[in-house]
Amino acid sequence: MFFFVQNFEKMGIIIKTPEQIEGIRKSSQLAGNTLQMINGFIKEGVSTEYLDNIIEEYMRDNGAIPATLGYHGYPKSSCISLNEVVCHGIPSPKTILKEGDIFNIDVTTILDSYYGDTSKMYWIGDIPQKTKQLIDDTYHSLNLGIQQIKPGNRFGNIGFAISRFAKAKGYSVVYEFCGHGCGVDFHEEPQVEHIGRKNTGPVMQAGMTFTIEPMINEGKSRTRVDKHDGWTARTIDGKLSAQFEHTLLVTETGFEALTDVTGEY
Ligand code: MF3
Ligand code: CO
Ligand code: CO
Repeated sequence: MFFFVQNFEKMGIIIKTPEQIEGIRKSSQLAGNTLQMINGFIKEGVSTEYLDNIIEEYMRDNGAIPATLGYHGYPKSSCISLNEVVCHGIPSPKTILKEGDIFNIDVTTILDSYYGDTSKMYWIGDIPQKTKQLIDDTYHSLNLGIQQIKPGNRFGNIGFAISRFAKAKGYSVVYEFCGHGCGVDFHEEPQVEHIGRKNTGPVMQAGMTFTIEPMINEGKSRTRVDKHDGWTARTIDGKLSAQFEHTLLVTETGFEALTDVTGEY
């Protein structure tokens, strides 16, 4: 009986082979390097489309394809989400970066058919201490989620760790968008929720690869997608949102942050 329950819960979650893991690692490192590379081009007055073009060129120069391009009709090579935009902001020549903007750049590479998905926050010039705190706390919440990764632990504990911290700090956690299995496909099983209940959800097993990508809001958690483009998700109250994302591997002893190129993990 126990056996059946276990199998049912793992249904659809792919355990990657060593060869697949090596491919996912390479793609993930390229995605991480893309986020480092673009830092040098971020300045006041440039458009988000300009940054998107550089991202696409960099990926192609390195033998990869941007996974978002044409994904369910998505038109660009990255998502660039400014201020109250929670996720899936579409790069545009009309969106010009200005002093005080905070924004997430989210990139996903396909290299040799393997996927790597990562995002981080950037900002222009001086931002208020409270805004910097939101960004730092969102980064910390991702880290708390990552620290839950080890064989035998349950996925619900990731969301539990993230939401307990974020709520204690007075923020809300977006529940309408989740992390996801990632590696041989863009969005695989399971859904990785950022609000979780302790000791619920599938059991982690070495060889699983997935993202954690908490979106943390200053105000209300609810989002609304722009009618005119069908993608841009904004906070309903217009307050700020921040997000960080890594693609992670469950190892025999814990985790490997596949998209980390900073040496932090
Ligand atoms: N990279 C996003 C994620 O973290 C997905 C973007 S899909 C797009 O899952 F179509 F909006 F680009
Ligand atoms: Co993702
Ligand atoms: Co992403």
